[in-house]
Amino acid sequence: MFFFAIAIALFGVNAGRVRCDPVSDALSAIPTATISDGKIVGTTTNIAGPTGLIAVNKFLGIPFASPPTDSARFTPPKPPVKWSSKDTKEFKPACIQVFAPVANRTFVEEVFNNPPPAAGENEDCLYLNVFAPKKKWDSSKPPYPVMYWMYGGGWKFGASSLQLYDGAHFAALEDIIIVTVNYRTNAFGLPQAPTIKNVTERNLALLDQRAGLAWVQSNIDQFGGDKSRVTIFGESAGSVATDILVTSYPKGSKPPFSSAIMESGSYAYLPLANCNNSDFTIWNGLVDALGCTNTNPDAAFACVKGKPAADIKNAQELYPAITFGFACDNYTFVSDPRSRMEVGNVAQVPVLMGSNTQDGSFYANFYANYSFDIYWGGTFGFATPAIVAQYQKVKDAYPIGSEGRVDLVTQLTQIATDWNFHCPALLNAATSSKYIDTYRYLFNASFPNTRINDPTRWPEKYQGAYHSSEIQIVFNTAPSAGATPEEQKLSETMRKAWAAFARNPNQAPITGWTKSGSDGLDAMMFGKGSPGDSGMVKDSNKCDVWKQFIIDLHA
Ligand SMILES: *[C@@H]1O[C@H](CO)[C@@H](O)[C@H](O)[C@H]1NC(C)=O
Ligand SMILES: *[C@@H]1O[C@H](CO)[C@@H](O)[C@H](O)[C@H]1NC(C)=O
Ligand SMILES: *[C@@H]1O[C@H](CO)[C@@H](O)[C@H](O)[C@H]1NC(C)=O
Ligand SMILES: *[C@@H]1O[C@H](CO)[C@@H](O)[C@H](O)[C@H]1NC(C)=O
Ligand SMILES: *[C@@H]1O[C@H](CO)[C@@H](O)[C@H](O)[C@H]1NC(C)=O
Ligand SMILES: *[C@@H]1O[C@H](CO)[C@@H](O)[C@H](O)[C@H]1NC(C)=O
Repeated sequence: MFFFAIAIALFGVNAGRVRCDPVSDALSAIPTATISDGKIVGTTTNIAGPTGLIAVNKFLGIPFASPPTDSARFTPPKPPVKWSSKDTKEFKPACIQVFAPVANRTFVEEVFNNPPPAAGENEDCLYLNVFAPKKKWDSSKPPYPVMYWMYGGGWKFGASSLQLYDGAHFAALEDIIIVTVNYRTNAFGLPQAPTIKNVTERNLALLDQRAGLAWVQSNIDQFGGDKSRVTIFGESAGSVATDILVTSYPKGSKPPFSSAIMESGSYAYLPLANCNNSDFTIWNGLVDALGCTNTNPDAAFACVKGKPAADIKNAQELYPAITFGFACDNYTFVSDPRSRMEVGNVAQVPVLMGSNTQDGSFYANFYANYSFDIYWGGTFGFATPAIVAQYQKVKDAYPIGSEGRVDLVTQLTQIATDWNFHCPALLNAATSSKYIDTYRYLFNASFPNTRINDPTRWPEKYQGAYHSSEIQIVFNTAPSAGATPEEQKLSETMRKAWAAFARNPNQAPITGWTKSGSDGLDAMMFGKGSPGDSGMVKDSNKCDVWKQFIIDLHA
């Protein structure tokens, strides 16, 4: 009750209509909250705790921006129209997703989009979800740390509503508020088009993520959240998004987050070119695929903008080379993340980062029937002498016949793991540790009910601790059928470590988890010895094979 008195005082004018409603609160069977845009009515769920069921409040599908549709397509997120009372009991649709190439769509969805978002997908998608403890708190001092989750999906797909990202266990068992946000991806989120002159406005995906973070700063106290303790976190593209935020807030700035967790993805040390604000090849490919070819780029843009969303989706799935990157504006996306890291000119917040020991297995699998050269060509190409030299260096460093490389797939799995995930995290941690508290982990566990059951497309022996497989361990969202005691133990350990870091990132998330040193070797191994156990290791690695290549390629 007191909490709502505060809410009304804060939002007196906007909440005028709310005042007439019967006031309820977080403790009600039908929880409500009054946020800056109006009142929302949520729902409740129960999680099994050590001594019985623990209730959690869920507010699902809260608009944090107006629908980016029609004339608002390809434009930055704008505040939603205020409402008096809105039901937020069910998830809203995902943003439009692209699972290219079409030939591999079933497989990609099976691994990363399973089960798919219940509410489907729609261009009207700028919604977020809040999972909060169902408890009474002192409204003068909202107590709960907040964790803000950005999904993966290679900037092509993803949905905050996946069951995988259900925040109820964190809310029930750790007194943490989980916020999961939708953001636009593919052409809808990264329209690198010449017509958009302000290059920041080509990075709509990043602006959406920032709008969600601004929403947290404005509203999370209404759920008991402490806005001074916000941990941004994500996996894969969501982890890259986290690093993009860390590297784009310079030292001395005031970021809307206080710590960051990166699961299998980094920006600063990725051996791929950052951006080219005047390269419109990809956009023009989309223009042509949609039959919008025109010598006047503004007319072409208007044509694309006028197409049905389904056509824009289909064009990208049919022509998988249409893959959008970022514009460098040095605001949402810096052109020189590594250089900034190396002088400590990044957000001064503690970071926790890591990778899975077979993060590359999913990617290697696509080349199972091909060859090392085809993998290399498809990944890096052979365009420059430096890339050709690196090709030879990698070929020599990862021969089949040793260190667990028994065939092409196991060889490519190690290579894909190292360049895309393992070494970027190791090198990032090594540099980061010079300026900010840095904790690194490795995840090396696999359980019967987290494996992909599709032996034709992906034999289990090749999966290992595959990309994204740690998420359900962190969130406790693996299927309960077939869960093993070791799996439950590892889940407890990881969830508690993530929560401890969100509560206080200035101390070890697990007793004995030492900070990264400047060699980057120290890491907490989840699944050390046996899948349920954890402990520190010195990470033996081949990152020297990649380091100079990364540095030369990536400012
Ligand atoms: C991907 O698509 C290609 C082309 O149709 C096909 O040969 C291959 O089996 C697919 N791989 C998977 C893992 O789905
Ligand atoms: C560019 O766009 C961003 C995001 O909408 C905005 O904050 C900024 O003010 C714009 N810059 C200019 C020069 O208009
Ligand atoms: C950026 O793209 C343009 C157009 O394709 C090209 O002319 C230019 O060389 C590229 N710049 C860099 C640094 O690659
Ligand atoms: C971003 O900053 C880098 C140096 O830090 C500079 O080289 C680059 O031109 C800047 N880009 C823009 C778009 O301002
Ligand atoms: C991961 O665990 C497997 C056993 O499941 C073990 O063979 C392998 O050496 C471990 N990998 C690392 C990097 O410790
Ligand atoms: C490799 O080829 C076999 C036989 O055509 C096929 O069954 C299998 O799906 C292919 N594997 C992949 C990963 O594409």
